[in-house]
Amino acid sequence: MANPPDPTPGGVAAPPAPTARLTLTALAKMAAAGEKLAMLTAYDASFAGVCDRAGVDIVLVGDSLGMVIQGHPTTLPVELAHAIYHTRCVVAGCSRPLVLTDLPFGSFQTGPEDAFRAAAEALKAGAQMVKVEGGEWIAPTVAYLTTRGVPVCGHVGLTPQSVNALGGYRVQGKTADAAEAMIADAKALERAGAAMIVVECVPRELGARLTNECSVPIIGIGAGPDCSGQVLVIQDALGIQPGKAARFVRNFMTGSDGIAAAIGAYVAAVKDGSFPAPEHCF
Ligand code: KIV
Repeated sequence: MANPPDPTPGGVAAPPAPTARLTLTALAKMAAAGEKLAMLTAYDASFAGVCDRAGVDIVLVGDSLGMVIQGHPTTLPVELAHAIYHTRCVVAGCSRPLVLTDLPFGSFQTGPEDAFRAAAEALKAGAQMVKVEGGEWIAPTVAYLTTRGVPVCGHVGLTPQSVNALGGYRVQGKTADAAEAMIADAKALERAGAAMIVVECVPRELGARLTNECSVPIIGIGAGPDCSGQVLVIQDALGIQPGKAARFVRNFMTGSDGIAAAIGAYVAAVKDGSFPAPEHCF
């Protein structure tokens, strides 16, 4: 058996050998074949490497970094420069997962050209796709980006950049009208060229409908087990966030022998459909 790579003089394990990064085409094929996609956030090379070795398919450089890295109560203070810095760190630390970068509040809402400039910086930093929050109103921007070669992931449901307008972090799409409006939003994003959509904090039935009625992979967070894949903030999955965890969170450190095993357990539970369980659903 081959020896593991020598640690560097500082005792840090050598980075993984380069392998081909997952592409959007590969992820779409996996989803079409019924394989659940495992996404986690990461903001640095070390955790990106742990995600890579555990088999995470997509690493999201989320603007949740404003909360879990910078300590703010919302994602709103995150600047584009912060997202770019953390994207570079993540890209350096992993070789297989697709790297998806959130465009922060204020970097894309003003129009397609601003959005393109922000997205171009993310792609130059090594991201393969950018994520924008919003429904039908953002579709022209999504079309502008995708026409110019920028892969886009939409984000509907609870959109944390709109926390002040939403009146808090609340479950979305609970009424029949709100559910129909969200489906119309997701379809508008898909028509505009979005190749993936994150849906956050919606009733399980709406997560299932979005997944069935859209043709692109739907990645859920608090959206039930029927989505094409799942995403969690890594600090939540490791149970290291202070305070009461949201209903949709599972602490994968429970029963795991360390961080790598916990991330492995997350991937296994997403892939075999056991996460999210009924107690994680709305
Ligand atoms: O910023 C983030 O981490 C996100 C996830 C909650 C989907 O957008």
